[in-house]
Amino acid sequence: MARLTINGQSHDVNVAPDTPLLWVLRENVGLTGTKYGCGIAQCGACTVHINGEAVRSCSIPVSEAEGKQITTIEGLASGGRLHKVQQAWIDNDVPQCGYCQAGMIMAVAALLSTKPKPTDAEINDTITNICRCGTFQQVRAAIHAAANA
Ligand code: FES
Ligand code: FES
Repeated sequence: MARLTINGQSHDVNVAPDTPLLWVLRENVGLTGTKYGCGIAQCGACTVHINGEAVRSCSIPVSEAEGKQITTIEGLASGGRLHKVQQAWIDNDVPQCGYCQAGMIMAVAALLSTKPKPTDAEINDTITNICRCGTFQQVRAAIHAAANA
């Protein structure tokens, strides 16, 4: 059994402590916005926030997330308003198939919370999410747009 705080709500889930957080979010809690890509912390499709930091939830045991604030793509908007990264994604037509994009947006939101105006070098170092559709140029444009919003 684990007690998790996800998007401000408490959830009790009956899972083994070493179950990956991604599995719990999708299968037990029903938050399917967070995607499974590689399962080995390489692609970033599964990125969520734990206490505001971007983490790859496929490689975090649920036990490590207990007692912390977990935020998924479903909880990024607040007060009926999109997060500025979400808005920049729409304005810049970033997504193609969309599969990687929830993780991409969560990674970028965490980056901007610590570096409000990241340089291209900082973006390269931090946003290592993989997009099979090759949206990287649009991602970069949208990051700068969000930073200037
Ligand atoms: S599914 Fe977690 S990094 Fe790829
Ligand atoms: S938009 Fe298709 S994988 Fe990134």
